[in-house]
Amino acid sequence: MLATRRTILGGAAMLAGAATAPATAARAVAESETSGRPLRILVLGGTRYLGPAVVTAAAARGHEITLFNRGVTQPWLFPGVEKLKGDRYPDIGVGLAPLGQREWDVAIDLSGQYPRVVEASASRLADRVGHYVYVSSISAYRSFATPDVDESAPLRALRREYVESPDLVEGDWPTYGARKALSEAAVARHFPGRHTILRPGPICGGANNDGSGAYWAERLYRGGTVLVPGDGSDRVQLIDVGDTGDFTVLAAERRLPGAYNLVGPAEPIDARAYLAACARAVGREAELVFAGDFPDGINSMPMIPPYRHVPGHATMRNQRALAAGLRLRPIEETIRDNWIDHRLRRGKVYDYAAAGIGVTAAREAEMIAALR
Ligand SMILES: NC(=O)c1ccc[n+]([C@@H]2O[C@H](COP(=O)([O-])OP(=O)(O)OC[C@H]3O[C@@H](n4cnc5c(N)ncnc54)[C@H](OP(=O)(O)O)[C@@H]3O)[C@@H](O)[C@H]2O)c1
Repeated sequence: MLATRRTILGGAAMLAGAATAPATAARAVAESETSGRPLRILVLGGTRYLGPAVVTAAAARGHEITLFNRGVTQPWLFPGVEKLKGDRYPDIGVGLAPLGQREWDVAIDLSGQYPRVVEASASRLADRVGHYVYVSSISAYRSFATPDVDESAPLRALRREYVESPDLVEGDWPTYGARKALSEAAVARHFPGRHTILRPGPICGGANNDGSGAYWAERLYRGGTVLVPGDGSDRVQLIDVGDTGDFTVLAAERRLPGAYNLVGPAEPIDARAYLAACARAVGREAELVFAGDFPDGINSMPMIPPYRHVPGHATMRNQRALAAGLRLRPIEETIRDNWIDHRLRRGKVYDYAAAGIGVTAAREAEMIAALR
């Protein structure tokens, strides 16, 4: 039996106002106490989603940037930045050879998804780079069975031979967390005491996002009665891409030691508060119907998945990063940016139904009718 609870959300912001919000990429980078000397930063990746935020933040701080990637993803970005064209896989094409004997103060690894790939660059750069920043993920943690996971919690442990088996499809999601955990270990091995591990939660906002952060904003914008999983009390965490980029550069500048969870907002929020922020971001009012547990077959809802039986979901602790200088903008700004990217910059809204995300309008109406 489905539990029903209704609520009305009021949107304060006007859409026209939303459209004129400042772009996150242009946001001023947080002040930090550094030596003031520009760093030579090698960015492994840099051109898809988080990368541009890192490059923009580093450039705004006056650092010298070198990008290393294959020149496939958005190669038109950053024409004024030095680019080395190679492959993280040492056995593909020229591999890592373009790195040559060059030296950098810091490497920021955004593109390492497989332990052997991270191992290859970390071992090659160990004597030529002062500090290595590796962007991992909260998925590296073994369990969310208890709330408030901090950086000391155990990580996933799949056998390396398994996560790198050629039988697995490239990008295989079930092994993602273990691959990140094993990649972290490779970095720690080659840069003992000289590395930062960043573990972001869902990254939202900015341009070229995957659309999940715009799902609820778009649904509320469409209007009508909105079906929501759970009872409104599920926790929601996300982090803005610009804030993540800023902190990544801060970590490089300060050579922050150890691991940092990167999640926001600063104060915990639940699904009800998140949806209220979405409504304000798009300037709409909505009636919400909370559906409790979703029936089988409907289990993919961005940001508010039916994880109510996973007590640790979206309860990551972020105190360590906040104490180290993480700045978090209001989530409404992130949501609006995410949504505007889809509505205005791309000229179309992400096709959630085609991607199997959320419920179709027909199914939603059917379920709401059943709940009433
Ligand atoms: N998005 C999230 O919610 C989220 C959450 C937690 C953690 N993360 C982590 O955040 C990191 C950043 O992801 P991003 O995609 O936004 O980073 P990005 O640096 O913007 O883009 C990925 C870069 O990797 C390069 N690349 C891909 N395959 C390569 C290869 N074989 N050799 C050399 N370069 C290669 C791509 O360029 P080319 O294609 O031109 O080579 C591109 O520049 C990832 O490690 C991800 O796991 C993301």
